[in-house]
Amino acid sequence: MEIDNIVVKNRGITIINRLKDISNKTIINEIYNGLNSKRRYISPKFFYDKRGSELFEKITELDEYYPTRTEKSIISSIGNKICNNYSGINIIELGSGDHTKIELLIKQISPEQLRKVEYTAVDISESAIKKSVSTLKKVFSQLKVTGIIADFINQPDIITNNKQKIICFFGSTIGNFTERERIRFMNNLSSQMRKGDKLLLGFDMIKEHNIIEKAYNDDKMVTAEFSRNVLNVVNNITGSNFNPKEFEHNAFYNAKKERIEMHLKARKDMLIDIESVKESIYIKKDETIHTENSHKFNSEHIKSIGHQAGLSTTDIFTDKKGWFSIALYKKHT
Ligand SMILES: C[S@@+](CC[C@H](N)C(=O)[O-])C[C@H]1O[C@@H](n2cnc3c(N)ncnc32)[C@H](O)[C@@H]1O
Repeated sequence: MEIDNIVVKNRGITIINRLKDISNKTIINEIYNGLNSKRRYISPKFFYDKRGSELFEKITELDEYYPTRTEKSIISSIGNKICNNYSGINIIELGSGDHTKIELLIKQISPEQLRKVEYTAVDISESAIKKSVSTLKKVFSQLKVTGIIADFINQPDIITNNKQKIICFFGSTIGNFTERERIRFMNNLSSQMRKGDKLLLGFDMIKEHNIIEKAYNDDKMVTAEFSRNVLNVVNNITGSNFNPKEFEHNAFYNAKKERIEMHLKARKDMLIDIESVKESIYIKKDETIHTENSHKFNSEHIKSIGHQAGLSTTDIFTDKKGWFSIALYKKHT
């Protein structure tokens, strides 16, 4: 069912599609400008169509991909350290993906308090939102659940409301931003938080480089498939004719910039037609398209990221090996 921007509203679930406020032309131009720039790039947000979200879920289950299980182990034990009474709180999860991390947090809330809690998931992936909110509602029938399909970079007003909030941004998705994007994102977030609101932010930490590199180069090559799938998404949006098989997945640790870089490397010379803009681009063999950065952090970075946005760091929760951290920030004014 679809009523304007509200896609579904039944059995205590509301799903709102804010992506419809962004015109196709804007999205096509964003992709075309990236592909046509001197250092070609595609924003990582385009990874997440239905197939991309499914592949990302598969990645999170891989032996090599330590971030998800490490972050989950932290979330499982911090419920009462974040808040001692969740009544009246709106938990907002940005880039929520599947429901499994938030389920671990909500499980730690007593049934009496849970009746007075709202949960809002925000993600660019329509399929991920639909699946995660309906699964959560089945697990926690008393929870009021809203899904918002939106771009949290270009639609920063999505979380404005008057309720006391705990915002969750897991998965070290913050690491995908450039420094400039991160500062803008954090300032926007902070400006929408009111006194007493909290932010839980997941950070993948700097560690031995080969452990990090393996996480993005798994033996089953699921990450390679995820990486190439972005070209299918681009084809669907722009009418381009990329053949993903003609590109190699190339992920490596850039020690100077403390980040994993993911690129797609052309296996041969090719001319790509982009029907929606009636343009073609010529890509030479071995040329790359940069698709993702995944920055890694230390505790100094974590504190300064909060500080720059006017938030105080209340706690940093870390696993025994120090591989992943979740920062708890608070707005004081
Ligand atoms: C690295 S995954 C993390 C998923 C999940 N939070 C986790 O920790 O496993 C990034 C998530 O953010 C979403 N995402 C990426 N860019 C986005 C954007 N600009 N706006 C909204 N969601 C976005 C993706 O669809 C995906 O679900």
